[in-house]
Amino acid sequence: MNRMMTLVAFLQAQNCSNLPGSWRHPSTMLDFTTPEYYQRIARTLEDGKIQLAFFDDRLALPDLYTGHHAEAIGAGVRAVKMDPSTILMAMGMATTKLGLGTTYSTTYYEPYHVARVFATMDLMLKGRVAWNIVTSLNSAEALNFGQATHMEHDARYDRADEFMEVVMGHWNTWEDDALILDKTGRFADPAKVHRLDHVGANFKSRGPFSVPRSPQGHPVLIQAGQSGRGQAFATQWAELVFVIYHNLEAGKQQYAAFKNAIAAAGRDPSQVQIAPACYVIVGESEDAAQAKRAIIEESARPVDALVLISEVLNYDFGAKGYDEPFSDEELAGFSWHGFRERVVKFSGKKNPTVRDFVEVSGRGTIAEHKVFCGTPKTVADQMEEWFVAPACDGFVLAATHMPGAYEDAVRLVVPELQRRGLFQKEYRGNTLRENLGLPIPSAADWHQKRKAAQ
Ligand SMILES: Cc1cc2nc3c(=O)[nH]c(=O)nc-3n(C[C@H](O)[C@H](O)[C@H](O)COP(=O)(O)O)c2cc1C
Repeated sequence: MNRMMTLVAFLQAQNCSNLPGSWRHPSTMLDFTTPEYYQRIARTLEDGKIQLAFFDDRLALPDLYTGHHAEAIGAGVRAVKMDPSTILMAMGMATTKLGLGTTYSTTYYEPYHVARVFATMDLMLKGRVAWNIVTSLNSAEALNFGQATHMEHDARYDRADEFMEVVMGHWNTWEDDALILDKTGRFADPAKVHRLDHVGANFKSRGPFSVPRSPQGHPVLIQAGQSGRGQAFATQWAELVFVIYHNLEAGKQQYAAFKNAIAAAGRDPSQVQIAPACYVIVGESEDAAQAKRAIIEESARPVDALVLISEVLNYDFGAKGYDEPFSDEELAGFSWHGFRERVVKFSGKKNPTVRDFVEVSGRGTIAEHKVFCGTPKTVADQMEEWFVAPACDGFVLAATHMPGAYEDAVRLVVPELQRRGLFQKEYRGNTLRENLGLPIPSAADWHQKRKAAQ
């Protein structure tokens, strides 16, 4: 079979998409506090055979900028954050094949809890679930969880590695054939249900886990860290990796380097897919697409960028002059290392300013991600160029407005990609793993690998 693209919809359980101004877009629907809003999007995505709808998450409002939430709330900059796992279930009830993923934090949650939530969702959604593993980004999240400060970058990843040992250990507690369900005999074989007895630097968790395996073994694992430490984590655990590429050339280099790193970690690079975030703005003609783009660009306000950069770097950008360079110490403290490194590299400055962070990152505007704009044909041409380069195995489609951006992509771009043999015409199976072309893992494999590693 030809190599096929993986398409992922980038969703938010909030008032706007990844693009804060999207709530102001004239055709955005504002019923985001209702299940109908998310089910409408889910049905559109399933019509388009999109493999996965995925929610990002943060465990606090973006109130770092000016040290108060007034700016974020007033301008509606990601001013609502609902729990995405419950929304996934609502979307799952309106669909049968669409994969459904969400972000959960390894810094603020407990591994047993996360293992149980995701294993249960994976059963209720018949093997369609994915988990985006994040270590979280800022002190507002820490304060909501009773901690004075946000844990240091590499220590967060060390904790995340151990977190994964516990979650995976629990998910592999029940062997595939542990359930017997013989009403005249036994319910399950106790010899095939194992206790974890994990004792480590950050966690203790005994088990046995209380949820049997799902039709896809366990949820698909997603990760999106781009620092050296973040990538080391991803090479160990991730099956789907989300990235931000500054341009095609940088993407080609990073894609090749990352695939090599996966091979060096002893894993099969073809079983770890890489998908950059992008915006698709498509119209029936080039003029129609450009007119749509102008409306979208008008929705951005300067405060959007400052609020969102402060949020992810864990630093109040309102406390600094616009053209004042950041000191080495200030840069070292920034939370999202991959973001900082991109700005240092593409500004060409060792000590960039607030302006450099705003302009190079494009955060809060569509310039943050690659924009594929044009007719169905020219959009598909550009996506094909990235895919065959290769700079990616698929794309994370961020929305410029809701649900219109997904309706446009599904009605106009997907048929063109399908016509070219680049995207699936039908779902390949019922589980997310089948639809991503990923193997269904067995509990026995996990235990064998653990034994071999000891
Ligand atoms: C498409 C995409 C989605 C992301 N979603 C989240 C998210 O939901 N929550 C979060 O805290 N970070 C999110 N991130 C940021 C990363 O998960 C990660 O925290 C960040 O890259 C910092 O890691 P690094 O310092 O290793 O680069 C996302 C990044 C990308 C590219």
